[in-house]
Amino acid sequence: MNQHLRGDPIPFIDIAAQRRRLGRAVDEAVARVLAHCQFINGPEVAELEAALAAFCGAKHVVACASGTDALLMVLMAKGVGRGDAVLCPSFTFCATGEVVALTGAVPVFVDVDEASFNIDAASLKRGIATARRLGLKPRGIIPVDLFGQSADHDAIGAVAAAEGLFVLDDAAQAFGASYKGRRLGGFGVITATSFFPAKPLGCFGDGGAIFTDDAGFAELLRSVRVHGQGSDKYDNVRIGLTARLDTVQAAVLIEKLKIFEDEIAARNKVAERYAQGLGNVVTVPCLASGATSVWAQYTIRLPEGTDRDGFASALKAQGIPTAVYYPKSMHQQTAYRDFPVADGGLAVSERLSSDVISLPMHAYLDEPTQERIIKAVRGYFSV
Ligand SMILES: Cc1ncc(COP(=O)(O)O)c(C=O)c1O
Repeated sequence: MNQHLRGDPIPFIDIAAQRRRLGRAVDEAVARVLAHCQFINGPEVAELEAALAAFCGAKHVVACASGTDALLMVLMAKGVGRGDAVLCPSFTFCATGEVVALTGAVPVFVDVDEASFNIDAASLKRGIATARRLGLKPRGIIPVDLFGQSADHDAIGAVAAAEGLFVLDDAAQAFGASYKGRRLGGFGVITATSFFPAKPLGCFGDGGAIFTDDAGFAELLRSVRVHGQGSDKYDNVRIGLTARLDTVQAAVLIEKLKIFEDEIAARNKVAERYAQGLGNVVTVPCLASGATSVWAQYTIRLPEGTDRDGFASALKAQGIPTAVYYPKSMHQQTAYRDFPVADGGLAVSERLSSDVISLPMHAYLDEPTQERIIKAVRGYFSV
C-alpha cells in the first residue's frame, strides 16, 4: 500500500510489506520446524549456513544467536583478553566496542572518514601507536561497514598485515554489500553479521553469523558456540557460550535469502532517488571507490547550523519518521569514555554525531511515498 497520501504515517522500515511479498512461504517454513520439533540445531541451520556461504562466497559459515555473539565468539576464539587492545571505530553501534571490553581487553577508538563514515586508515595507525604507548598489545582491528557500505578493506588489510593484527569485519549492517566485486564475508576476512529484524537481511528475532575461509577456525567457533564443547557437549575444552541460532530463525532466513538479491537492487534504487532529489540540499551519502552498499540506513548530513531536532520534528509533523545513528560516538558514551582514543582525537566522529540523520529506507519504499519525503526535506530548507 502506498503511503504517499499527505499525512499518512510512513514506516521507517516496512517489515509488513516484506511479509506480504513473502506470502505463505515463511509461515510454511516455520510450520515445518514446528512439525519436526528440532528447535535446537535442526536441519534448517546447516541448510542456512550452506545458503549463506553460497550467497557470499565464504568457505565456512557459523550461524549464531546475534551479531553481538558473532563478534564475541571470534574474539574468544582468538584468545583476546587482558592486556590486549583491539582497534575499532568510535562512530558505530555500541556492540562493536562492547565485545572487546567483555573479553577483558581494551577497545581503542579510532576516527572515521568523513565521506564514507568508515574507519580512517591514518587514524587507525595512530590508534595502534596509542595502544602501544599505553603498554597494551594490539591484537586486532574491527572495522565496521557502517550503514551498509563496505569499508576500505585493502587499506585496513595493509595496516593489519604490517602490524601483524587480525581483522574481524563487523558487517552487522552490511551483509550483501561488496568490496571490489566480492561480497563481504567472501574474501577471506573473518566477518560477522547480524540478522536483527531491522537489518537488510533480518529474521524474526535475534540472529547472526560468522564467515571464514579457515576450516580450523570454523571448528573452533562451533566449539565456542556451545559451551566450548570438545568431542561432545559434556566434554568442555574451553570457555564458551550458548550462542546457537534457533532453528525457527534459520527457517525464516532461508526464505528471506531467496528474495534478498532483488531487495538489495530495490534498496539501491531508493538510494539513487534520494541522491537525485536531495543532493543539492543536504550532504547525501557517497560510495567509496570499489564499495557497494545495502543501505541499512540512508544517512544524510544536515547543513551547518541546522537545528537537527527542529528538522526531525518538522518531518514528524508530516508523518515522516527519522532516526539519529548515532547521537554519541562510542568514546562519548558514559560506559566507554574512559577507554583510550587514537592520538589526534576523533573530530570527524564527533562532528558526524552532531549532524547526521537517517531517512526511511527499505526495499518497499515506493516512488510516490519517497517523493513525499524528498518534498518535505526540501520544504524544510525552502527549496
Ligand atoms: C555495527 C553493529 N555491530 C553489531 C551489532 C550487533 O548485532 P545484534 O543486535 O544482532 O547483536 C549491530 C546491531 O545493531 C550493529 O549495527
